[in-house]
Amino acid sequence: MRAMEEPGVRAEAGSSPERLHSANAASFGDLSQFFNAFLPRFVRDSLVGGGEVWVTRSPQGPDGLLLYHEVERTASIFTRSRARADELRFLRPSVAVFCEFPLTPSIEVYSVWETHPAEVPLRHRYRHPVRSVRPSDWSEVGRMLRETYGRFDPRWLAVAALTGSRCLVAEVGGQIAGAAWISVVGHEARLYSLTVAPRFRRIGVATDLWHGRMEWARRAGATRVISEISELNAASIQISERAGMRRIGALYLSRTPKDPQVSGAPQLGQTLSVTSMRLPQ
Ligand SMILES: CC(C)(COP(=O)(O)OP(=O)(O)OC[C@H]1O[C@@H](n2cnc3c(N)ncnc32)[C@H](O)[C@@H]1OP(=O)(O)O)[C@@H](O)C(=O)NCCC(=O)NCCS
Repeated sequence: MRAMEEPGVRAEAGSSPERLHSANAASFGDLSQFFNAFLPRFVRDSLVGGGEVWVTRSPQGPDGLLLYHEVERTASIFTRSRARADELRFLRPSVAVFCEFPLTPSIEVYSVWETHPAEVPLRHRYRHPVRSVRPSDWSEVGRMLRETYGRFDPRWLAVAALTGSRCLVAEVGGQIAGAAWISVVGHEARLYSLTVAPRFRRIGVATDLWHGRMEWARRAGATRVISEISELNAASIQISERAGMRRIGALYLSRTPKDPQVSGAPQLGQTLSVTSMRLPQ
């Protein structure tokens, strides 16, 4: 599936990028093949988390959105217009950008995966206890994220605890071995920010967290669940494939020569709001 290319005239007829300081839009219209339902949530989360939000408008309404967070040093652009994507990218020309258009010659492909909770069999046998995070867990979860990714903005935990998002943790030997988030908007859910501490990998923690989130999605009334996974992330691909998820399309992380993210640099997709995590394996 390809991002819909629209004639540049739509962008040329529209406004210059305008910075948003409040998150009161109920909808941004049709800016994405995958994320339209989540856009107001991304905007809210970006602003609460200290990120920037820019919007462009055509006479018909918003036609482009850029989210950026200084700690992540990664932007996300949502638009149906290639011209708009290029225009928004030049607001932050030196950082890597997630977008449904490839914007530079140097791209990393993120497939978008989909499943329907009603189709997922309930017969998973958990190897580790999985539960909702408790307020007393946050410092341990924060420590695990910092250890795993090197840098980490604590505001992200506040964002991740906002309405509509749920964090599940898995324990091994009484310690928090992994954490993962799910966001539900109406009947749509999105899985993101799956992290297992390096010393607890390859023992099924992420697989348990996947199934725990799917149970939560089902209970929350979600009929469709999506997630974005780098084609370089063999472990996450394996987990999604085994669970029966299907690839429904792609977005791209476009890099520039000035991109401060060297390959494999730790990165927690915090604006992710921003659609996605770009994480080392
Ligand atoms: C990806 C990640 C969450 C996997 O966690 P995990 O708890 O080790 O995963 P699991 O033990 O449930 O592994 C499930 C399967 O994935 C595959 N897998 C796991 N790690 C792998 C690796 N490094 N390379 C290739 N395949 C791997 C295996 O097939 C494994 O099953 P098996 O052990 O029965 O063969 C973990 O490596 C991590 O936190 N990485 C950094 C953050 C990240 O990439 N998050 C995901 C973003 S989408």
